[in-house]
Amino acid sequence: MEVVILPGTKQIGALAADAIEALVRRKPNAVLGLATGSSPLPIYDELASRYDAGGLDFSQAHGFALDEYVGLEAGHPESYREVIRREFTNRVNIKPENVHGPDGAAADLEAACQAYEDAIKAVGGVDLQILGVGTDGHIGFNEPGSSLASRTRIKTLIEQTRKDNARFFDSIDDVPHHVVTQGLGTIMDARHVVLVATGAQKAQAVRDFVEGPVAAICAASILQMHPHATILVDEAAASSL
Ligand code: GLP
Repeated sequence: MEVVILPGTKQIGALAADAIEALVRRKPNAVLGLATGSSPLPIYDELASRYDAGGLDFSQAHGFALDEYVGLEAGHPESYREVIRREFTNRVNIKPENVHGPDGAAADLEAACQAYEDAIKAVGGVDLQILGVGTDGHIGFNEPGSSLASRTRIKTLIEQTRKDNARFFDSIDDVPHHVVTQGLGTIMDARHVVLVATGAQKAQAVRDFVEGPVAAICAASILQMHPHATILVDEAAASSL
């Protein structure tokens, strides 16, 4: 695990975008793992502006979202499918049919989770997975206690995560209780993982997963076992290291 401390979000976005740009140039049909939340936004902004400037081509690339809420109606602006479209894929020339997310509205959620695993495998696996981290150390929606070998499945959000995500909804009552998320085993299969954490509110989680034991109580700690994990943090998020 390589931890890179940078002055701010602009530099974090640029460094992550460098890795993604290099990947897409080397492998035009690269498979990108896409995360929601505020942390990846500087990456998406930087990629969109490089695309606008010309020369960066996502026309053969694939995108796979990490997770999705269960129970939001199709097209809900806070469904992660919509967020990923709005924040990234609609801003570049990735083909809409090449952008996938777990189906949180499926009648048979278990079958939908298995289908999602199969879809990732069918394109050869994720080349570069973008990640944020929750204040409780979750990645995707793998809350504390998640099996370190888990695959895409249904999870229940803990109260703190619903509080953290309430800012995207009218009220906390509107935040779903259930989600479908790639498992930690699924995330670990990505060939390169780039995790972004910024702000003092992430300092404890960063310390726990970078310097603490590898343990299910802090899901992101599994990344200590990943052969190519890059952790991009600002000084505030690094302040407890
Ligand atoms: C949500 C997402 C995670 C994300 C986390 C942190 O819970 N499921 O993928 O990493 O929020 O979000 P933020 O980057 O906004 O702090």
